[in-house]
Amino acid sequence: MNLLTIAIDGPAGAGKSTVAKLVAEKLGLLYVDTGAMYRAITLKALSTGVSLKDADSLVKLANQTHIELRDRTEGYEILLDGKLVTGEIRTPEVTAGVSEVSAVPGVRLRLVELQRAMADDRGVVMDGRDIGTYVLPRATLKIFLTASVEERARRRSEDLNQRGYTVNQQEIQADIERRDNYDSTREFAPLAVATDAVVVETTGLTVHQVVDRIVAMTRPHVL
Ligand code: DC
Repeated sequence: MNLLTIAIDGPAGAGKSTVAKLVAEKLGLLYVDTGAMYRAITLKALSTGVSLKDADSLVKLANQTHIELRDRTEGYEILLDGKLVTGEIRTPEVTAGVSEVSAVPGVRLRLVELQRAMADDRGVVMDGRDIGTYVLPRATLKIFLTASVEERARRRSEDLNQRGYTVNQQEIQADIERRDNYDSTREFAPLAVATDAVVVETTGLTVHQVVDRIVAMTRPHVL
């Protein structure tokens, strides 16, 4: 079977999840938010008192965790061991700890196994950091979405404001820079542009312009 698989990678705040969700909707594909999976493991570690520095315990925890992603008309839902945690995984505490957790190779191996299984029998739009380079190296289309760090900090601040958090844009920018650096320099499957990816610079573009551009790139593959 020739399934359409779209990998969308890029740094924090580049708009990957908003864009990936809309592309999936337009093309009738399953959307998989891999960042949400790393966030769910981080949330579980924080709420069960597992140290984010204890790699062995984090791997054990990841292997004993059930994560479900549900794309519903009411919205995208994340279930951690059967409990809805869609909002909880986006708190500043989880955001601050997630890079550390996602740098642990054993945690990644477990989540990558789940991600590949999701793309096994369905067309997907999967977003993350290592989708085109590691998780789905044979994806039909690979996009690397990026924007200036100031623009990304502005978008993240707006998003957090809308969800009721009072935030300082400078702090958000510093956190984004710290995470970009952490995610790009880790040893195992770092954030990187796949050699066959199309880089889409989104500064100054609307979400819909970006979505339309990506959908247009899939045309040769769906005709
Ligand atoms: O996209 P996001 O901000 O929800 O991702 C949260 C963190 O998870 C991010 O700092 C890096 C990590 N991540 C990763 O290492 N690999 C992925 N495929 C997705 C996310």
